[in-house]
This record gives sequence, structure tokens and C-alpha cells, in this order.
Amino acid sequence: MALLAPSILSSDFSNLAQQIRLVEMSGADWLHCDVMDGHFVPNLTFGPIIIKAAKKSTKLPLDVHLMIENPDKYLDAFYEAGSDIITVHQETCTHLHRTISKIKELGAKAGVSLNPSTPLSTIEDIVDEIDLLLIMSVNPGFGGQSFIKNSLNKIETAAKLRTKNNANYLIEVDGGISKQTAKDVLNAGCDVFVAGSSIFKSDNIAASVVELKKIISTN
Ligand code: DX5
Ligand code: ZN
Repeated sequence: MALLAPSILSSDFSNLAQQIRLVEMSGADWLHCDVMDGHFVPNLTFGPIIIKAAKKSTKLPLDVHLMIENPDKYLDAFYEAGSDIITVHQETCTHLHRTISKIKELGAKAGVSLNPSTPLSTIEDIVDEIDLLLIMSVNPGFGGQSFIKNSLNKIETAAKLRTKNNANYLIEVDGGISKQTAKDVLNAGCDVFVAGSSIFKSDNIAASVVELKKIISTN
């Protein structure tokens, strides 16, 4: 059964705890937290302090997406703040195997993310090691961008790669997920759907969670 991970990037931070509880009560499965450093991506968001605050507000697993350079420097801090899944970008890790190992040693699930322009071949040799493969379907940095259609091929290929290698990673897709795009993404093989603006910028946050869950739960 596919999972829904609302991204708090598009939420109202002056009411963060309330917004988190609302998506949790409406059926969200994970909470996606976008960490940006203004270097790897042209935008700044938040660090471990907000992860810690989110942790206090929910029982949902915290799915922490690090869009930062030198992620190794901050893994301990993000783990201690309450991250359940820590995802790093392949493009930021010179020694990706070491970084993945460190995340797992800490006790979190380890994810790797690929930008739209980064091929799957860059993670082929570590597919056995990862718990999650996060395929970016927009260029990371901002919410509210349009879904890049070619991501569908990448999702399909990622699913084939998993079968071929007898690997177990979940395929997560992030960027431009909405009522309009979710079905195609599901059919391509996505397991975890990140959705920011289509939930938090909608007129009815609770109804949007319910509706998206319905779409990703039907065959
Ligand atoms: C973008 C972030 C996403 C963002 C998605 O860099 O990684 O998680 O919140 O936003 P939407 O769903 O609005 O495309
Ligand atoms: Zn994200």
C-alpha cells in the first residue's frame, strides 16, 4: 500500500503543530521535512530545531530530506532531533556508501535522492544498502513547481533495478504531486508520495490528504 508524506515546506509555520496534527488525523503516513542550506539549493529553510519541534507534535515517522552540502557534518544532530528516515542527495556525497552506513549506524533508515538530471546508474552499486530511493520530479529548492514528465520513466526504471538486484528500497517521489499527477506516478511504481502545496496550499487540508490517499490506494 502506497504511503503519503505531506511536506511541511508549504505549511503555515506560525501554526506548525496544528498543521501537522491536521494531516496526521486525516491519514498521512509520514511527515516530510525539507532541509535546505542556500548552497546546494537556492533556498534556505530550517535545521534540527524544527525537526525537534515537529517530533513533539506527532507520532508520524519524520522523513527528513537533506538538501545540504556536507550532510555528514549534521547527521548526528538530525538523528538526535528525531529523524526516522534521513535522505541525502547523491550529488552532495563523495563517499556515499560511508554516509549511508553512518545513517544506519545511528539507527535511522537511510535514503538517497537524485536530482532530475542525475542518472540512476550513480546509485546502482549501493542499491542493497539503501532503505529509500527519493526521485526528485522537480529541481529541488521550492514547493509549487510543475511535475517533470520524464520522471515517470525514471520511476519505472528504479522499480526494475530493484527487482533485478533483489533490493528492498522504497521508491519515493517528490515534486509536483497532485490529484492530477498522482495516478501516473502510482502506475510507474511509486511507494511513497511527497506532497507539499497540493495539501497545505489547498482550501481544505484535511480533504486533500483524504483525496490523495484515495488516489494512491486504488489500483
Ligand atoms: C522541493 C522539496 C519538496 C517540496 C515539494 O525541493 O523537496 O519536498 O515540498 O513541494 P510540491 O509538492 O509543492 O511540489
Ligand atoms: Zn523534499
